[in-house]
Amino acid sequence: MFPYNRPRRLRKNESVRSLVRECSLSPNDFILPIFISEGKNVKHEISSMPGIYRQSLDLTIEEVKEIWDLGIKAVNIYVKVNSDLKDNTGKEAWNPDGLMQQTIKAIKDTIPEMIVMPDVALDPYSIYGHDGIIGNGQILNDETVEALVKMSVSHAEAGADFVAPSDMMDGRIGAIREALEESGFPDVGIMSYAAKYASAFYGPFREALDSAPVDNQEIPKDKKSYQMDYHNAYEALREVEEDIAEGADIVMVKPGMAYLDIVRLVKENYNIPVSVFQVSGEYAMIKAAAANGWLDHDKVMIESLTAFKRAGADLISTYFAKEAAKLLQT
Ligand code: PBG
Repeated sequence: MFPYNRPRRLRKNESVRSLVRECSLSPNDFILPIFISEGKNVKHEISSMPGIYRQSLDLTIEEVKEIWDLGIKAVNIYVKVNSDLKDNTGKEAWNPDGLMQQTIKAIKDTIPEMIVMPDVALDPYSIYGHDGIIGNGQILNDETVEALVKMSVSHAEAGADFVAPSDMMDGRIGAIREALEESGFPDVGIMSYAAKYASAFYGPFREALDSAPVDNQEIPKDKKSYQMDYHNAYEALREVEEDIAEGADIVMVKPGMAYLDIVRLVKENYNIPVSVFQVSGEYAMIKAAAANGWLDHDKVMIESLTAFKRAGADLISTYFAKEAAKLLQT
């Protein structure tokens, strides 16, 4: 007896496969993370992230025009802050003329429809490389939230569409939402890094911004007291639930490829757009394997991005945004 049910009928050729496909990938799904540095005509390649540059605002603007033409409609912004501007309070983070604020304004002036999502966290501004203010050898939650609120309002004043708190302090979404409402920015959204794990996959990013926790006995050497423990899945639901209750518009899971179960869990439990961050270390792994000829770069890139969609992600922050958009256009 041969089977009546033959799933292979639906895989017979590309036409039928494309008819029954359950998800699709488009440049509309992408958010490109960009690294900004001071100066003019400055471009520095991140050694562990081939093809990704930390660059000055003038060059960034040219790149933003280019990615808009490729169909990418959103950017996450990260700035590298000169060390003389760093301290324990992170006050440069809400300087109205700071590099982040200048960048937000310049991008919105160039392409008003581009969705600008600045990162909200103190680590690039902290002498300690932590996402919060330190006191008694601890990351102080409520003092940090006050700083994040000032930072978020200053991003809104500069023209941000969404602020993107990536710090994992408790209660920051509610505090930021309230401050945005009170400051006259009811339409500025919040993309919350709701389930962000303490991950070794962030290594190359910390090189890009020179923002790794400093080696000092007085302060925690890692971010495990605020970012989540990667043994836990259900705890992510509590984090997400809390952020939604406090007013998040989009919730993010981070990192990406090793956390597809979390993306699926969040998507199945809440009716809110879910974003996922394919982080620096994931990009570095694929680039390194491809450079050695061990993997087919383009195929693995598209497969990894499609897996996010299949898992339930609506938006994808990825350093591959530009390359993938180019490939999807052809
Ligand atoms: C810090 C921040 C990090 C990333 C985004 N925001 C690093 C960290 O938490 O230490 C990582 C992004 C990446 O690795 O691509 N607020």
